[in-house]
Amino acid sequence: MKQFFLGAASVIGLGTIAGYGLLQSGAIDFAADSPHSSGTTWFIEWAREQSVAKQAKDIVPPADLASEERIRRGAGNFEAMCVGCHLSPGVGNSEIRKGLYPSPPNLSQAGAASDDQKADARRFWIIKHGIKGSGMPAWAQGGMDDEAIWNLVAFIKTLPKLSAAEYQAHVAASEGHSHAGMEPAESTPGSAKPHDHEGHSHSPHKHSH
Ligand code: HEC
Repeated sequence: MKQFFLGAASVIGLGTIAGYGLLQSGAIDFAADSPHSSGTTWFIEWAREQSVAKQAKDIVPPADLASEERIRRGAGNFEAMCVGCHLSPGVGNSEIRKGLYPSPPNLSQAGAASDDQKADARRFWIIKHGIKGSGMPAWAQGGMDDEAIWNLVAFIKTLPKLSAAEYQAHVAASEGHSHAGMEPAESTPGSAKPHDHEGHSHSPHKHSH
């Protein structure tokens, strides 16, 4: 029995040393343009969903989640803070999204929105806390309150049903970037003094600004 434990301990010890040697040699590629193997991706996504499900299980969505008012309020914040990564109807891709790994899901596509309470609690939790090691920020850290987060959940559930024109109409009817906890400077994007350079310009470049 004693020998068995000694044997097991040396296997674990050697495994740890070999693992350390592998990592220390720089064998693991951290480049965002070098994807994980499908097995590693599966494993990370499985672990992520286990964790989110556990932490979101007691979150109860508000009864008025589907209200027009929540959807209206969510639209402006989505356009201000999320669209670059999660896209909007009729927009093929964005510069930032092409380079992010893992790739942010296209929330304007059908299939992105399921309707049950569990899915809503999951969305709320992800928006509030973010996803470690991905580009998804923990928006509560920026000061976003729970109500503003639920408004975003309400809006992203509607998003795949909207045409590009309807999307723009929702954004226009909304209050732009507005939620509790914003610093005054954050509420006035574009107010910084113009600098003497060519702004956002590189090749290939399709933007008009
Ligand atoms: C800088 C890019 C970036 C921004 C900005 C961003 N996200 Fe994300 N988001 C991500 C990434 C990347 C993921 C996927 C993370 C993963 O695969 O583990 C994600 C995942 C999500 C998910 C889960 C989607 C699903 O069905 O699995 C939701 C919901 C979400 N984001 C909402 C938002 C909202 C709302 C905003 C704006 C307030 C926002 N995100 C802003 C990058 C971003």
